[in-house]
Amino acid sequence: MNMLGIETSCDETAAAIVTDRKEIRASLVLSQIDEHRLYGGVVPEIAARSHIDHLDRLIGAALEEAGLASGDLDAVAATAGPGLIGAVMVGLTTGKAIAAVHDLPFVAVNHLEGHALSARLVEDLDYPYLLLLVSGGHCQLLAVEGVGAYRRLGTTIDDAVGEAFDKAAKLLGLGYPGGPAIEAYARDGDPAAIKLPRPLKGRAGCDFSFSGLKTALRQAVEATSGGKLAAETLTPAAQADFAASFQAAVGDVLIDRTEAGLRLFAEATGQAAPALVVAGGVAANTHLRERLGVLTGKYGVRLTLPPLALCTDNAAMIAWAGIERLGRGLRDGLDAAPRARWPLDANAAPPPGMGRPGRLGAKA
Ligand code: KG4
Ligand code: ZN
Repeated sequence: MNMLGIETSCDETAAAIVTDRKEIRASLVLSQIDEHRLYGGVVPEIAARSHIDHLDRLIGAALEEAGLASGDLDAVAATAGPGLIGAVMVGLTTGKAIAAVHDLPFVAVNHLEGHALSARLVEDLDYPYLLLLVSGGHCQLLAVEGVGAYRRLGTTIDDAVGEAFDKAAKLLGLGYPGGPAIEAYARDGDPAAIKLPRPLKGRAGCDFSFSGLKTALRQAVEATSGGKLAAETLTPAAQADFAASFQAAVGDVLIDRTEAGLRLFAEATGQAAPALVVAGGVAANTHLRERLGVLTGKYGVRLTLPPLALCTDNAAMIAWAGIERLGRGLRDGLDAAPRARWPLDANAAPPPGMGRPGRLGAKA
């Protein structure tokens, strides 16, 4: 079966063709970073318009790479949310149109489900497993018990971790996107140079919080420049120390919360987590990858880090989620609605202390 996957929920335009035998016949991702860089973050209106400009051609290129014509497709899956509503609509409507023209089954995929199942596309991985989803819009720990069976164990009460990296980089004058820049600068810095808090570390549950860390970083930068935020006065050595200290603090928090997540997984499912899967753009961070290796080693848990191209936003994961859903008889009508918000675990209560909805970043 050749499944066309389409992803346009944020600032990547992506199209892929994946088979039910786990073959990625094409997976193309067009980043809009250059169009948003000027604004220091993703501008929803620009994202939607850029998807319109590029998606048709990208789908054509994916078909060509796979050596297929559109009539050779067997099904279509498109992200229906969560994401920037205008951006989601572009891919969803395009997917529906292709399905309608060729009379194909259509699957409306939750972007988070795409991340949650992506590891199964490249590895022999059985349910259940613990998922640490760390991206620009999300920071969650989920028990993945099967297709459509997700139990949220913890989530961020304010910023997503990738968002925290991006904001920290902006504070330090390191540019956008921030994660890779912080990681690069941190290599030459002293992780103990700046004292920063570890929000929620050691607390009950496995929720996350990063906004206090960002504030503490801003205050520490201000303290070095006479009470004013002046990133341009920081020397490269100071930038490196700030970046290393920030990355170490985030790492401490993520490791502590993931360790708590392993305990909660056992309580919630009645069995120890056989595997920890890490997904989302922050999973690219080498410091984090190493520390997760140590943590899982301590508990004898298998660690699965999908290849980077599958960790960051892509359409192969959407096609794969579509294949998994279709394989269980789950398909959607052409009236499937785009959704700005769409939690994977509809039963999860908001964590205590969660800010009011609408305050999360563009990628939320
Ligand atoms: O999954 P992703 O590509 O997009 C979504 O948010 O869905 O994640 C992008 C996020 C950005 O916030 C970026 O700064 C962060 O992942 N990121 C990193 C690294 N590479 C990307 N954060 C820390 N270290 C990295 N090496
Ligand atoms: Zn994502």
